[in-house]
Amino acid sequence: MSAPAWLTIDRLSLTEGGTRIIDGVSLQLGAQRTVVLGPNGAGKSTLLRLIHNLLHPSSGELRWARVLSQAMVFQRPVMLRTTALANVVYGLKLKGYSATESERRAQQALVRVGLEQLARRPARLLSGGEQQRVALARAWALEPELLILDEPSASLDPASSREVERTINAIAASGTRILMTTHNLGQARRLAEEIIFIDGGRIAEQTPVAEFFQLPRTNAAKRFLEEETP
Ligand SMILES: Nc1ncnc2c1ncn2[C@@H]1O[C@H](COP(=O)(O)OP(=O)(O)O)[C@@H](O)[C@H]1O
Ligand SMILES: [Mg+2]
Repeated sequence: MSAPAWLTIDRLSLTEGGTRIIDGVSLQLGAQRTVVLGPNGAGKSTLLRLIHNLLHPSSGELRWARVLSQAMVFQRPVMLRTTALANVVYGLKLKGYSATESERRAQQALVRVGLEQLARRPARLLSGGEQQRVALARAWALEPELLILDEPSASLDPASSREVERTINAIAASGTRILMTTHNLGQARRLAEEIIFIDGGRIAEQTPVAEFFQLPRTNAAKRFLEEETP
């Protein structure tokens, strides 16, 4: 990998109830767009939660080249019982922005995700894809240096999934580092620079995207690609 690492993960493990969910993971993350792939239960979500500091490792450590501001978006967006706009404003106010500045940034973020027309609608009445874009706007409005996304389009129809993908692309183009998981291999191929393939809580390989899909190095990755490709 050529880019200097912004995060070094050193022998990270997480044990829960006697099971090693993350098992001695060492990694250097330096790419701007990294996609974590692997079978169900491989430990993808757990790894992302450890990186976002939502879980604490049993052993090992994360070493940041410097502290990065970060935000995380999950498979199912959590929408407050208010308008789309107020959902975005909420995150900004929490970060300490004034009411006026929060409103201005929230409006701008909704424009960027193409939802300005729906700003005053109750967020919970929007479609799944629209809600996910509100969640992305809420994260993007904070201008994080790292955005972590855990299967952001897993519960969406193909058209909504493409919209979410376009938004992620735009966020990446704005300079934010992207670290995400997806079940959609086409999406992984289009969005990633680098693929991390994880199996049984261990890193099986870390490969530039084109190489991963053409010539996966491990049998586990070959099997995964065969099973997941229609
Ligand atoms: N809090 C927990 N306690 C016990 N087992 C867990 C916990 N969280 C996740 N697991 C288990 O750890 C494994 C990895 O889970 P997860 O990170 O969600 O995988 P993935 O996102 O790759 O599908 C699974 O076998 C899951 O059942
Ligand atoms: Mg998961």
